Amino acid sequence: MFGPVLKGDNVTLRPAREGDAEHFVRWFADMEVTRHLSRRAAVSLQQEQEFLKKIGESKDDVWWVIEAEGKPIGATGIHRIDWLDANGMTGIMIGEKDCWGKGYATEAMRLRTRYAFRELNLHKLMTEVDTENVASRKALERSGYRTVGIRREQNFREGKWNDRWLGEVLRDEWERGG
Ligand SMILES: CC(C)(COP(=O)(O)OP(=O)(O)OC[C@H]1O[C@@H](n2cnc3c(N)ncnc32)[C@H](O)[C@@H]1OP(=O)(O)O)[C@@H](O)C(=O)NCCC(=O)NCCS
Repeated sequence: MFGPVLKGDNVTLRPAREGDAEHFVRWFADMEVTRHLSRRAAVSLQQEQEFLKKIGESKDDVWWVIEAEGKPIGATGIHRIDWLDANGMTGIMIGEKDCWGKGYATEAMRLRTRYAFRELNLHKLMTEVDTENVASRKALERSGYRTVGIRREQNFREGKWNDRWLGEVLRDEWERGG
């Protein structure tokens, strides 16, 4: 399913719209954008339109387009939600490279985390990030994610194996602000 509109100071999370798919085609063709993502292959317009349709209909994903500076800049979501155990896996991409380093991921994660705990009544959010992806980890830690482990030599990229950082945030830790 798509999440509802969530407005922050500089970032808005919103459901997908007609015309969004073409942005993702451009972003996923750029290896600088995909280097830390699990999805590293480029996609066609049709594949991306199908993906958006599928994720909009999914009952165990909540997904948003991220907007800033009046345009779509990326996407974020809560995936593989287990409604009984009240947990899910989070992910994010900022595809517009001129929008990196402006605090947009940090704000998008804050909006997503609040929605997950206050509206979806989830108990825990989990994620996995390349240990080299310092920006993503910093942004996650600001939303309360804590280290639970390192997955060793999990993915192969640019000629070498990379470790993954495993982070989680529990709702009561987040409620206590830390
Ligand atoms: C990783 C990504 C999500 C970060 O988004 P962002 O909007 O640039 O992040 P923010 O601006 O909120 O920055 C978060 C922190 O990381 C720092 N940072 C930003 N870019 C950085 C970089 N290239 N190297 C090190 N630190 C960086 C920021 O300065 C900030 O920390 P600070 O406030 O202490 O200075 C974004 O670059 C992206 O989507 N990249 C491509 C896809 C991807 O890697 N997704 C994440 C997969 S888990």
